[in-house]
Amino acid sequence: MTDERPGAQAWVAGRSTLAELRSAAQECRGCELYRDATQAVVGDGPVDAMLMVIGEQPGDQEDLAGEPFVGPAGRLLDNALGKAGIDPASVFRTNVVKHFRFSGTRGKQRIHKSPSRVHVAACGPWLVAELDLVRPQGVVLLGGTAGKAVYGPGFRVGETRGTLQQWPSESSAAPAHSDPAVIGADYQPPQWVLPTTHPSAVLRSRQREEDLAQLVSDLSVAAAALDPGGN
Ligand code: URA
Ligand code: SF4
Repeated sequence: MTDERPGAQAWVAGRSTLAELRSAAQECRGCELYRDATQAVVGDGPVDAMLMVIGEQPGDQEDLAGEPFVGPAGRLLDNALGKAGIDPASVFRTNVVKHFRFSGTRGKQRIHKSPSRVHVAACGPWLVAELDLVRPQGVVLLGGTAGKAVYGPGFRVGETRGTLQQWPSESSAAPAHSDPAVIGADYQPPQWVLPTTHPSAVLRSRQREEDLAQLVSDLSVAAAALDPGGN
């Protein structure tokens, strides 16, 4: 972290409810991405969800609405979750970076670019606080940015997609794990992680039907792993 990009820690510290996290994130100056975004978009869904789905960053519509996954990628995700036998309303959905990274306009459309490692690292404490709040049994990682946030820069979606992985003992979000202002002492990480492709990649794909079927098949593995009798 640098003076200009101190990380979100100071804004996250001491917040424990979702409403507190949501309003505190509006003040966050942990990195420069707040400047061009409309608002911070934190996670949404039941705080007792068994499953947390983690994407990259809010898109254009999410930035305007203040809610994650309300645009085309979110609709595709909901459709895929439903086909895999998971009620989309039962899932807590969030992103590794909470502000839209603006990179220009194309006609009326506002274009974003992927957040870089420094933004993911700066924003990590929000994700850690969400994990502490929800304590999901399992986590689905959508795409490379979410995967790298948890497993580091060597992560490749194609290597592990659709297979159950363990939450790593070290991750980019790990430094905050040791800060009692951000995370409870009794925190337990998710029992499993399922990497898969990002729904935006399916939307862009030339073989959309096949890629959607593959996403649904990956999510079915998560559906089967969810244990209603577990935490
Ligand atoms: N893509 C994401 O990764 N997250 C959103 O919230 C919307 C689109
Ligand atoms: Fe804070 Fe994350 Fe927004 Fe950066 S992207 S200002 S760290 S909430």
